[in-house]
Amino acid sequence: MIDDGSRRHLVLVGLMGAGKTTVGAACATRLARPFVDTDDVVEANTGMSVRDVFIQQGESSFRQLERRAVEEACATPTPAVIACGGGAVLDGDNRRRLQRTGFVVWLQADPATLMARVKDGTERPLLEGRGTATLERLAVVRAAAYEAAADALVDTDGLTVSQVVDAVLEVYPR
Ligand code: S3P
Repeated sequence: MIDDGSRRHLVLVGLMGAGKTTVGAACATRLARPFVDTDDVVEANTGMSVRDVFIQQGESSFRQLERRAVEEACATPTPAVIACGGGAVLDGDNRRRLQRTGFVVWLQADPATLMARVKDGTERPLLEGRGTATLERLAVVRAAAYEAAADALVDTDGLTVSQVVDAVLEVYPR
């Protein structure tokens, strides 16, 4: 990592259910940094839930809003922990921006683990009414994008939140 402060953020990427929000918030507490979740930024900017943006405006509008959210998150003036929506790294501009301003950790888990974690009532429009097969497909389709974005990978299967936080902070150069 360049230690001139330019890559200052800790960025978490990975599929829905990987634990980006929970782990990211816990990492931010441990590092005493602000926590930014790109889905929250979209919701704050639109006054709508991510689900309603998908339903009322469609996925491509959501992706535009997400690009702006990534831009805003990366522009946070102090070093932050940034949790990206699962599809944010599909966009090359997002990948480059995240790479340029942060150290990117890919939180990985088996689709069955992901599915168990997203069954918590959280609304995810891409998964509604679908099952593990969708997550298996997304894992295959998105693997190259996560790999291209990531500086490090943490396998979260079988780990508690606090063990994942330890593993992330271990790979994060400071
Ligand atoms: C999405 C993931 C969601 C949210 C939106 C689309 C995706 O975020 O951005 O529903 O394309 O994988 P989480 O990964 O935080 O669930």
